[in-house]
Amino acid sequence: MRVTAPSFAKLNLDLRVLHKRADGYHELRTIFQTISLRDSLRIDFTRAKRSKIELDSSVEIADNLVVRAAKIVLDHLRINAEVRFVLDKRIPMGAGMGGGSSNAAATLIALPALAGRNIPVAQLAGLAETLGSDVPFFLHGGTALGLGRGTELYPLPDVGKHHALVVSTGIHVSTGEAYKALGRNVTNALTSEAESPILREFQAIAWLLDSAHLEDLTVKNDFEPVVFQIHPALAAVVRKLRKLGARPAMMTGSGSAVFGVFESGLAVRRAAEAFGASLTFPVGFVSRLQYRNLWRRALGPAAEFSCFGK
Ligand code: C5P
Repeated sequence: MRVTAPSFAKLNLDLRVLHKRADGYHELRTIFQTISLRDSLRIDFTRAKRSKIELDSSVEIADNLVVRAAKIVLDHLRINAEVRFVLDKRIPMGAGMGGGSSNAAATLIALPALAGRNIPVAQLAGLAETLGSDVPFFLHGGTALGLGRGTELYPLPDVGKHHALVVSTGIHVSTGEAYKALGRNVTNALTSEAESPILREFQAIAWLLDSAHLEDLTVKNDFEPVVFQIHPALAAVVRKLRKLGARPAMMTGSGSAVFGVFESGLAVRRAAEAFGASLTFPVGFVSRLQYRNLWRRALGPAAEFSCFGK
């Protein structure tokens, strides 16, 4: 059995980092959005007496999440199989676009389908969490609200068709280091006095998301001040995107990719020219329905056994 799975990138349209929790993770409020930029993950699957997992990637990646995800699925299903992955990477790495997490989620979605053994999405989400905080989002796609570690997810109304330009400078930001640089205190209180105004601001954005124009919302990414201080070049890219007409223009995740939302595909292509093609990715937002349909098309009849159903 063979499928070529689509593995999409994400942007954070808003990202608030609240306190540090007793478990070492930070309490988040974020809005995730899948975009059309994607890796492609070809998977060959054959039931066998002994399991063998191989990964051939266009980019060398240490401790690849795809292999770990595959082991988790085979263990969970208690089956042995020879699984061969060919990963064609397009999503920049260490860029805050969830590339590695998306590849892991793609494996969690596709392998049960190839094995003809459905894993209910609640169980799949549990497996996804063990692989990373951004992995569960990619089981759903579209526009979603992320709470807690970022693993508790709820659907948000579609924000509609949007065109964006992602600029990836190649600067690598370590997620762990970025969180540390925020210097948040550990607390057990769910909402401290200081967090209440931030939560109200975030809620206002979530409520307005489907009715207001994205360009009118004062979206925020709490990582920007600390990451821009270390890498002023990134702040300059955001300023340039704004000058070219992007609203909003901001960083995604803990960086380093930044993006600008433009009013048309033409405006995106014009802005891309101003940056030089090698650093830029013109993208469109991918809604939950599109995500589901693209996945179902990729899986064919096997989709019946995936989390996307019949
Ligand atoms: O979950 P993931 O492995 O992607 O997280 C990488 C690092 O980012 C964690 O080790 C942790 O330091 C930090 N993190 C955090 N709070 C979150 C998510 C990630 O502190 N909600």
